[in-house]
Amino acid sequence: MNILLLGSGGREHAMAVKIASSDRCTRLFVAPGNPGTALVPKCANVGLDALDFPSVKDFVLKNDVQMMVVGPEAPLVAGITDFFAETPGLKNVKVIGPNRAGAQLEGSKDYAKDFMARHAIPTAGHRTFTAETIEAGKRYLSSLRPPYVLKADGLAAGKGVLILDNLKQACDELSNMLVHGKFGDASAKVIVEEFLSGVELSVFVLTDGKHYHILPSAKDYKRIGEGDTGLNTGGMGSVSPVHFADAAFMQKVEERIVQPTVKGLLHDGIRYKGFIFVGLMAVANEQTGELDPYVIEYNARMGDPETESVFPRIKSDVVELFEHVWQGNLQQIGLDVDTRSAACVMLVAGGYPEKYEKGKVIGGIGDVEDSMVFHAGTTLSNDGRLLTNGGRVLCVTSLAQSMPVALLKSYQEADKINWDGKYFRHDIGQDLLKMMI
Ligand code: AMP
Ligand code: GLY
Repeated sequence: MNILLLGSGGREHAMAVKIASSDRCTRLFVAPGNPGTALVPKCANVGLDALDFPSVKDFVLKNDVQMMVVGPEAPLVAGITDFFAETPGLKNVKVIGPNRAGAQLEGSKDYAKDFMARHAIPTAGHRTFTAETIEAGKRYLSSLRPPYVLKADGLAAGKGVLILDNLKQACDELSNMLVHGKFGDASAKVIVEEFLSGVELSVFVLTDGKHYHILPSAKDYKRIGEGDTGLNTGGMGSVSPVHFADAAFMQKVEERIVQPTVKGLLHDGIRYKGFIFVGLMAVANEQTGELDPYVIEYNARMGDPETESVFPRIKSDVVELFEHVWQGNLQQIGLDVDTRSAACVMLVAGGYPEKYEKGKVIGGIGDVEDSMVFHAGTTLSNDGRLLTNGGRVLCVTSLAQSMPVALLKSYQEADKINWDGKYFRHDIGQDLLKMMI
């Protein structure tokens, strides 16, 4: 069948490789895709705007597309799944991605917090405030211990969470968000949350709305600087699996979080066919000393750059999995996972995530052996040269029997790629390796 994948990043490149490798895939269209997806066998990039639903419809009908996989959150939150379900001629297209109501798990942090409270899913204690209740918000802040966590309710391009050490600063930022529109409409409501101390990890669930598979665990590295310092980025690398997410921990994740989440969606009457990305904090239990999982956030999609280390480990035919998701019988098919470790190192433009230049000539990709290179922010010049075209440019993923070897391979290969100003963190995965000693 013909498949359309929406998105243009490293996540979509990694997904495209897996989707196209399925015998069930005849042609794969990626909208808009990138120079990396253009090189995937069976694959063609198409200049479509995922938020222009009528154009997506025309393309799907003209090209006999029977399955659509949605990479990023924006089209989901805008309701592309509902549009397909309600539009004659599109109803039978197998859309992998939740409807607008399901995507609210990501689109509104207040909604997600209510959902977790309703379904007894462990998360940090919180209250939600608006401009009208700002004084109560300040009082609530003063009842908490630092650091203080403030979250814009809506989508704020990954920047809507502030963590502050000082009460005055926290109160000032609460005003900035609620009264002065720091994040525009996204901060018309602000969630003030207790700080959770622990180690973060990402767990991904593929669900048909009733049954589910838990995909391999992963950890991403969000800060620009080594040792998790400096500004937040879109992600500087990822590893999978996360060693402390062992069978005992994952059983807690499944029983306390995944099952009530899937059941809760079903109970709330939400059609959810797609990925649930659960951002977790593993917190040491003061009594038992064991790690307990708490939800930090939900997303309605796969993570980036986690996909670049998780998808290469999926051995199952993902298109077959998606067909079962659509049919609602995911329990009939298993998930086959590569036991090897995956390490992904993101190569970014100098200056990112602040001001950086684009248009630098990229060399050396052809010298990379035995590792995968996924494109994120690249473009082709008129004369066919590969140029940087974003902050996060390329990522190198390697698979190996052990995490240290996977990391070593990725770093060896990352050194072969060059452009003026290339930067990457040298410590991806090191925190986990230290915990293992
Ligand atoms: P989010 O956009 O909700 O993922 O938050 C961004 C980052 O803020 C997370 O990846 C965590 O590192 C941090 N964070 C969010 N909520 C909390 C919390 N309650 N306690 C500690 N850290 C948090
Ligand atoms: N890696 C975090 C995200 O995709 O939101």
